[in-house]
Amino acid sequence: MQHITILGIESSCDETSASIIRDGRVLSNFIANQEIHEKYGGVVPELASRAHQSNIVPVVNSAIVQAGIQRHEIDAIAYTAGPGLIGALMVGSSFAKGLSISLNKPLIEAHHMKAHVLAQFIEEEGKTLPTLPFLCLTVSGGHTQIVLVEEPLNQKVIGTTIDDAAGEAFDKAAKILGLPYPGGPLIDKYAQEGDPFKFKFPISDIPGLDYSFSGLKTAVLYFVRDQIKTNPAFVEENLNDICASVQHTIVETLLAKFEKAMEQTGVKSIGIAGGVSANSLLRKRMLALSEKGCDVFVPKFEFCTDNAAMIAIYGYYMYKENHFGDLSTTPKARMEY
Ligand code: KG4
Ligand code: ZN
Repeated sequence: MQHITILGIESSCDETSASIIRDGRVLSNFIANQEIHEKYGGVVPELASRAHQSNIVPVVNSAIVQAGIQRHEIDAIAYTAGPGLIGALMVGSSFAKGLSISLNKPLIEAHHMKAHVLAQFIEEEGKTLPTLPFLCLTVSGGHTQIVLVEEPLNQKVIGTTIDDAAGEAFDKAAKILGLPYPGGPLIDKYAQEGDPFKFKFPISDIPGLDYSFSGLKTAVLYFVRDQIKTNPAFVEENLNDICASVQHTIVETLLAKFEKAMEQTGVKSIGIAGGVSANSLLRKRMLALSEKGCDVFVPKFEFCTDNAAMIAIYGYYMYKENHFGDLSTTPKARMEY
């Protein structure tokens, strides 16, 4: 059998990553995190671009070495063409183009958000892939989307956030609590020891299948401001309970609309994707939906937050459809779905 071997390159935000996927299976998935942003409370675009520049050569090299393949065995180079930070995207796309010329291999332009969903279609020993149609809740730092997947490359957004993304809600709440960026994993960690019903925050419910998270951020801000007036040590003394309550509110908001989408579409093959899908409560609540007769797909942790394996699997499906890019394409900060 002729193998299909794809190199994936991801550089849309603050992770430089490269992966080799052969016939849908991961041979390597190398991720370099950029810790430099921690002290600034968020990703600093120019610093991200510079870090990508210094990481990209060793990261791609490591992915090829770890996969145990030779460069000439790569059939195509898939890279994130958008959406993302433009300077960060430029580094990955320029590198991919240079490599495409030097190896004489075709390019594939990957859509970062569609690739998050396709992380569910990475093949593994003993794993069954989601049946189609598949309903996916994609929750990341920049996006919150309910996606109806008819085919791996035929995805339709049926619900989205009208303001902040779920990851942003986690990160902004964490910042108010004095936690470093990215705050999502820390809220998850402190919440493990906290009472989710101790403090009540509003669960927004706007019409249709869309989300709104900006009200939560304001509610947490005013709540903390009022509490520290009477007790300056309020946050320190109640950190676990505040984190558990915030996390509970975000997860219940996410689930309420997603269950509405399940009812409307009648789809029983469901899952989560994106950085926030690493959240332990969201994973637990999602898996519990199997009690309603659903097949639930929750990705491995390494495929939740930004990674190049999802770009390579996207490339694998594009390759099978002979869908190639070219050198004239420039990456895009915003990209239609
Ligand atoms: O998908 P991703 O890596 O990057 C984007 O494309 O945005 O998602 C990053 C987001 C951040 O907001 C981060 O706080 C959130 O995912 N995140 C989490 C957890 N791990 C990452 N949020 C809640 N709980 C987690 N365990
Ligand atoms: Zn992402």
